[in-house]
Amino acid sequence: MTIFAANWKMHHGPAGARELVRSVLARVRPREDRKLLFFPPAVSLAAVAEEVKGRHDAAAGAQNVYWEPKGAYTGEVSAALAAEAGATWALAGHSERRHKFGETDEETGKKVRAALAANLAPMLCVGEKLDERETGRTEGVVVRQLAAGLDGLDSGALGRVTIAYEPVWAIGTGVNATPRDAAAVHRTIRRWLSERSPAGTRHRILYGGSVSAANAESLLAEHELDGVLVGGASLDAESWIGIVSTPRPER
Ligand code: PGA
Repeated sequence: MTIFAANWKMHHGPAGARELVRSVLARVRPREDRKLLFFPPAVSLAAVAEEVKGRHDAAAGAQNVYWEPKGAYTGEVSAALAAEAGATWALAGHSERRHKFGETDEETGKKVRAALAANLAPMLCVGEKLDERETGRTEGVVVRQLAAGLDGLDSGALGRVTIAYEPVWAIGTGVNATPRDAAAVHRTIRRWLSERSPAGTRHRILYGGSVSAANAESLLAEHELDGVLVGGASLDAESWIGIVSTPRPER
């Protein structure tokens, strides 16, 4: 199974989001080995959820949720509210949340647990900054983010979480990690997860950071990658259809 996740960030209101999902799904036939995830802005969740209804290969997700179930939290959206709007997935700890909004490792853990409690499939994003990579700290940073983001989960809950490895220096920069470098970090993540899970569990780990129709094939040739999380290149139908149509070599 390959997961193609579109993170639209702060783009596409309800009308544009609906139109984009509709035109993509009209041209992409369902396949058992492919899942399409759309993460629109919160205001567009309901529209996207309506469009994916009836397509078992497609789903809508929230880009962010707040951990409290309800209350006086002006401007926030709880996991339960996102679920009510039709989300079945939720991102947690996207690098923009961490680095532009000051979200802490501990807060990402609360968001993952809140998503699970609302029956949303969490996708925890982890990844190092450029100076962290250049000073040999990639593994340490990623493991720290995993430990905090997945804190308190038993092995069953762990199996419901998808990880997105997104090196910060690759996001929106046009500079993607090489397939080899991405796969190396994926192996670190997989090792960490498998030490905490029942034998034989296959955890889903996606790569994100400047994925495009031009580089998706070489990235997805790495079997370590269970899919891709895509920002800029998921914003228009042509480019996104190109990416989700990427062939994968037989295992
Ligand atoms: P990008 O963003 O594909 O535009 O680099 C990826 C992401 O932020 O998830």
